[in-house]
Parts: sequence; C-alpha cells; structure tokens
Amino acid sequence: MRERTVFALTVLTLILLGAGYWAGANINLMPVEASTRAVLVDQLFRAVFGTATVIFLIVEGALVYAVLRFQRRPDDQSDAVPVHGHAALEVVWTLIPTVLATVIGVYSFQVLAKIETPGANPMVVEVTARQFSWEFYYPELDLTSAELHLPVNQPIRFQIGSEDVIHSFWVPAFRAKRDATPGQISELSIQPSEIGRYPVRCAELCGPGHAGMVTEVIVETNLDFETWVQSQLAIPTDPIEAGRFLLTRYGCLACHTLTDAGATGVVGPVLDGIGERAGTRVAGLDAEGYIRESILRPSALVVPGFQDGLMPPNFGQRISQQELDILVNYLLGQ
Ligand code: CUA
Repeated sequence: MRERTVFALTVLTLILLGAGYWAGANINLMPVEASTRAVLVDQLFRAVFGTATVIFLIVEGALVYAVLRFQRRPDDQSDAVPVHGHAALEVVWTLIPTVLATVIGVYSFQVLAKIETPGANPMVVEVTARQFSWEFYYPELDLTSAELHLPVNQPIRFQIGSEDVIHSFWVPAFRAKRDATPGQISELSIQPSEIGRYPVRCAELCGPGHAGMVTEVIVETNLDFETWVQSQLAIPTDPIEAGRFLLTRYGCLACHTLTDAGATGVVGPVLDGIGERAGTRVAGLDAEGYIRESILRPSALVVPGFQDGLMPPNFGQRISQQELDILVNYLLGQ
C-alpha cells in the first residue's frame, strides 16, 4: 500500500513538473524579443509562468478532488469533523511558498542587475515627452526626430524627461519602460538586437491624447541608420515636402488632422483649409500672422472648443526662423 502511494505521488509530481515546463516553454505571451534585455526578461517570465502553472494545477486539482470526494451524500445529515491545527501541514504550506518566493526573488534580482548594466560606449538619445508626442534628440548628431531610429547592436542610453505631466516611455519589444517625469531625467540602457519596426507607447494616462501618444522605433543596420541621419539633417528643398517634413519632425501630426500629410489627430484643430480660414479669425490679423502666432503663442489664439495648454508653448525656442517660415508658407497653402 505504502509503496503504491509513493509510486503514485512520484508519477503525479513528474506529470506536474512536465506540465509546468511545457507551459513555460510553449505558451508565449510576449511580443518579439528585439533587445538583449528582452531575452533575459522572457527567461525569467517563462520560469515564473511555469512555476505558476504547477501551483495552479495543484490548487485546482486539490479543489476538484475535494469537491468530488467529500461532497455530502443524499442521506448524510452529520456534521463535518472539526479539525484544530495540523503542524506538519502548516510547516509544509509555509515552507514551500517561502522557498519559491526566495528563489524567484534572487533570480529576479540577478536579471534586474544584468539588464540595468549599461553597455560600453553607448549612444545617447534624449527622449522628451509632452502632451501628446515623443521627441528624440541625438546630441552627438544635433538631430531631432519624432521617430526613433537606432542602429542594431549599438548600446543605447536613453535620457528621458517630460515637459508637462508624467508620461511613461515604453517599448514592449525591448521589454523596457521608464517614467518620463517633469523636472527630472531618468536613464534607461538597452541594446537593440533585432532589425525591424516596433511600437513606442506612452504607458501613463497623461490627458485626452494619451492613447494617440504612439510612434515607432526603427532598428536598422548601421548603413541604413547613417542614410537616415543624412536625410534628416537636410530639410527637403521642395516647399511642400519641407512642410510635411517639419510637421513630422516636430510631432504636430499626432494632434492635428491634415490630409496632405496623412495625419488624423483630433486633439487640436483640423489644419485642412487653414490657409483660407486663418485670415478671418481675428480682426486685424492676416492669415500669415494668425498661423505664425498660433505656432509661437498657441494660448493666445485657442480655437473655441479646444482646450488651452495642450499645444506646447515653446516652439519659439525649438524651431528656427527658417523652419517657421517654411511651416507658415506650407500651412497657408492648405
Ligand atoms: Cu503621455 Cu500617456
């Protein structure tokens, strides 16, 4: 009898461990692994998921067994036997979770220490969050972009800040997320390992345009990255192209709708037809002056029905006079 019990428990244990291993190895809930840290994070996730599967099967198995085995029979009117304490059981159910939590804790700490160690000679990218767009600045190249381009296998150090409220810089494919807090620069080190395009999101509710505060990270070869840098440093000579280019670079398209630029944002006023309307808005202000003022001092000319304070007030410092002229001319033609 005793031997049979030991045998049955051994088989059950092996089945449970096998199920846990299978679940950890085969049930994939994560997106593509596009950075070196993603691999380590996913290994940890699989280990925890496999362990949780074993615990789930034990707990639910015991529950189902108890329901079937100990249910009241039709003619049974007796009470249950009162049980007071069971030292061995209490030791077991204290010891097993303690060991599990300790092992997972130590393993997690090791992974955390590894993924937070910055790579050698990182390329710095300054990430600025504002309602409701991302801006990326490459100090070594003096280059600003609304899209994040990164050369593959190059260690990156993000320096993340915010101009207004708390946002959160999140690239699921990198397994990396860090709050963008006003008045503070937070660092985040990653090394992209897979060429491709991946979503960048805001993971902190930051206002009415929060859900649209998305862009893309493009991980590419060194050569493609260089080509992109060259294309960004020069503003296109065609005035229409240049207008679209600047609207994209400064993140305007996240909040405004403009058919010519393929933008469908709804946080700010529609820009289609702005060239015709602009001159009729404020007495004494012609179309060009109205558009120029709206860019430089948005709070002075809030369009009725739209909230003040959502459009960044600092374009005067961020864009050059030449860029402003290009933008105004482009918008006059819309
Ligand atoms: Cu920024 Cu949500």
